[in-house]
Amino acid sequence: MQIIKVKDYEEMSKKASDILSDKLKGKPKLVLGLATGSTPEGLYKLLIEQYKNNEISFKQAKTFNLDEYVGLDRQDSNSYYYYMNNQLFKHIDIPLEQTNIPNGIATDSDKECSDYEKLIKEQGGIDIQLLGMGLNGHIGFNEPGTPFTSRTHVVTLDESTRQANARFFDSLDDVPTNAITMGIETIMDSKEIVMLVSGEAKASTLQQVIQGEVTKDVPATILQRHPNVTIIADEAALSKV
Ligand code: GLP
Repeated sequence: MQIIKVKDYEEMSKKASDILSDKLKGKPKLVLGLATGSTPEGLYKLLIEQYKNNEISFKQAKTFNLDEYVGLDRQDSNSYYYYMNNQLFKHIDIPLEQTNIPNGIATDSDKECSDYEKLIKEQGGIDIQLLGMGLNGHIGFNEPGTPFTSRTHVVTLDESTRQANARFFDSLDDVPTNAITMGIETIMDSKEIVMLVSGEAKASTLQQVIQGEVTKDVPATILQRHPNVTIIADEAALSKV
């Protein structure tokens, strides 16, 4: 595990955008795993800037997002499809057909999950997977207790996750109860992983992720067993390490 300690959110975003744009320059056909939430927003802004300055192009890249809420269609402003379009895709040159996000309104969600796995395999796997981390240590939407052998699956969201994410919705009742997420093994199959963590609220969880034992109770601790992980975290997030 490589830990990069940065001053604040801005520096974290800058460091992450430098890493991702270098990868993209070295491999234009990069298969990029993407994340949502507020953590990567600054990174996406910087990638858009670099694209606008003609420093990088996403024309040949492929993307796979980690997760999507069940029951929200693509037009719903809280769907991760909508988020990705607004935060990144519509501002860059990636053809939309090269972007992949689980379909939260698929009629057969089990098939949606196995199809998603197949798609990732067909592209030769994910070269670099970006991760945020939930307060309880979830990655994607793999909540505490999720088996490390899980592949893309439908999950029931923890009450604490629904509460944490309620800030994006009109009310807690509007937050979906289920989601489709890449499994922990799907994430661990990525050739490289970059996780971004910012803010004091995540400090004790991050301490466990870096120094604690590997346990299903804190899903991100599994990253200790990945051969190529970089955690970029700010001083506040690393204040307990
Ligand atoms: C959501 C997403 C995760 C994300 C987490 C943290 O639950 N499914 O992929 O990492 O929230 O969100 P934030 O970055 O807003 O703290």
